[in-house]
Amino acid sequence: MTPHAPRGSAIDAVEALAVAVRRPAAEGGRALVSDYEPFCEAVRRLCGIDLLQYKRGQMERRIRSFVATRGAADLTSYTVQLKADKSELERLLDRVTINVSQLWRNPEQWAVLEERILPDLAASAPGGTPRLKAWSAGCSYGAEAYTLAAVARRALGRAQISILGTDIDARMVARARAGVFTADDARAAPTATLAAHFSMVGGAWHAGDDLKRLVRFEEGDLLRVRPAAGSFDLVLCRNTVIYFNEDVRDDLHGRLAHSLRAGGRLVVGATERVSQPARHGLEPESPFVYRKS
Ligand SMILES: C[S@@+](CC[C@H](N)C(=O)[O-])C[C@H]1O[C@@H](n2cnc3c(N)ncnc32)[C@H](O)[C@@H]1O
Repeated sequence: MTPHAPRGSAIDAVEALAVAVRRPAAEGGRALVSDYEPFCEAVRRLCGIDLLQYKRGQMERRIRSFVATRGAADLTSYTVQLKADKSELERLLDRVTINVSQLWRNPEQWAVLEERILPDLAASAPGGTPRLKAWSAGCSYGAEAYTLAAVARRALGRAQISILGTDIDARMVARARAGVFTADDARAAPTATLAAHFSMVGGAWHAGDDLKRLVRFEEGDLLRVRPAAGSFDLVLCRNTVIYFNEDVRDDLHGRLAHSLRAGGRLVVGATERVSQPARHGLEPESPFVYRKS
């Protein structure tokens, strides 16, 4: 407040409004000008991840509570720590990229894929030769891609199958290439299919070569990727866009739709929806499956 302004004056009201505009609503008595944007810009320069594209409320809370455990007073001083120590960046990324996954996550989705979607995709493949070209977008440590490989092998017999998994997190991509999963990762997996394609070694499930031949993994940022038109029969993008702002999410769904051939399918997470399917040439087919027209 200006020292000379009388309490309750119009000037008070204008100043209060100006402060409120400068201060994010949820921040109570914290710094008037947020240190969040400069922090995000520093992270973007360090590793390319643009945190400002993610839903701010939950991301900012997540980051601030983590930073408090790292002994830094605020995001500005934590930025100094991040720049000085590469392993600190890894710790931060562990916190912000939520890598939760599992084999056969949401088994009801895999049943629909196995029984209806995959046979239809193979039968309608361009050129008449049964095939499946799929993309697991936001694949984490590969559980989704290996599950798809096992399910597709069962559903499609000897059809040509190739599955690309991409994730922004290099450590997850390295784990995905290894194809090793904990017993807990396999808790929803059907026992016989699991045993047919994975071996239990030293308490962990190792994907067999029959699956490893069908999958490949690359680092990739979904916020920047511009996939070629019509290159996939199937795109799985599950439990990844929930962290993005609504516009960012819709834009991504548009680019994923663009990567599908006519008749291809986009599968989203069990609780997710494409907000404007028609705009992207998608028709809802079941609550989590969209067909490219
Ligand atoms: C919760 S996991 C989902 C894994 C899998 N799709 C599933 O449903 O089990 C979300 C993944 O999205 C990745 N991710 C977050 N932002 C991303 C981005 N901009 N580009 C690519 N991957 C991203 C994270 O690193 C994380 O591994």
